[in-house]
Amino acid sequence: MVKYSELREKLGFENMNGSAENLAYFTHFLYNHENELSKSYEIRAKEYFDEVADKLNLVEEPNIQQLLPLNWDVPFPAPQNPDFTFIDLFAGIGGFRIPFQEIGGKCVFTSEFNYHAQRAYELNFGEIPFGDITKLDLNIVPDHGVLCAGFPCQPFSISGKMKGFEDTRGTLIYYVLQISFN
Ligand SMILES: C[S@@+](CC[C@H](N)C(=O)[O-])C[C@H]1O[C@@H](n2cnc3c(N)ncnc32)[C@H](O)[C@@H]1O
Repeated sequence: MVKYSELREKLGFENMNGSAENLAYFTHFLYNHENELSKSYEIRAKEYFDEVADKLNLVEEPNIQQLLPLNWDVPFPAPQNPDFTFIDLFAGIGGFRIPFQEIGGKCVFTSEFNYHAQRAYELNFGEIPFGDITKLDLNIVPDHGVLCAGFPCQPFSISGKMKGFEDTRGTLIYYVLQISFN
């Protein structure tokens, strides 16, 4: 069984640059391979795999299925037999994901645009978040049971400037609504 830690090392996840979208598709596919939800990620994940397969020293014809099931040797792996699914928007370093996993949730989509938070998230869970929610094709977000979204509260907080929807960050809620109505 291939270990996630070996995969990330061979493919250089440690050095991922600002455009980690391919890696987001790839890791989301691997994470969801046992359910239909991986279909959202499959095409781009396979394209990425075809580009990098030679770095993995796989025997025979390289095939993404050879990686499955992965041994998720990460600090906070998904529950083995999840009771429900959730998505993790504005995910930061995963402060929502840990307790939701602990109560039996399986994360099926995550988005966070800060590079350093993305890196910490990947180290915690073995999954690379998709980036800026305002630039994503929201149709890729799979069906889910619970929507978590710790969106920036500064525009509405008394410790911020309270510009509300006049602050671009205040309008991010519309993306959350779009996902929930999709
Ligand atoms: C209040 S914090 C959420 C922290 C998170 N709950 C955690 O446990 O770390 C809001 C997060 O939203 C991210 N963010 C802000 N605008 C974003 C955007 N347009 N797309 C994706 N993430 C965004 C920020 O980088 C920040 O990490």
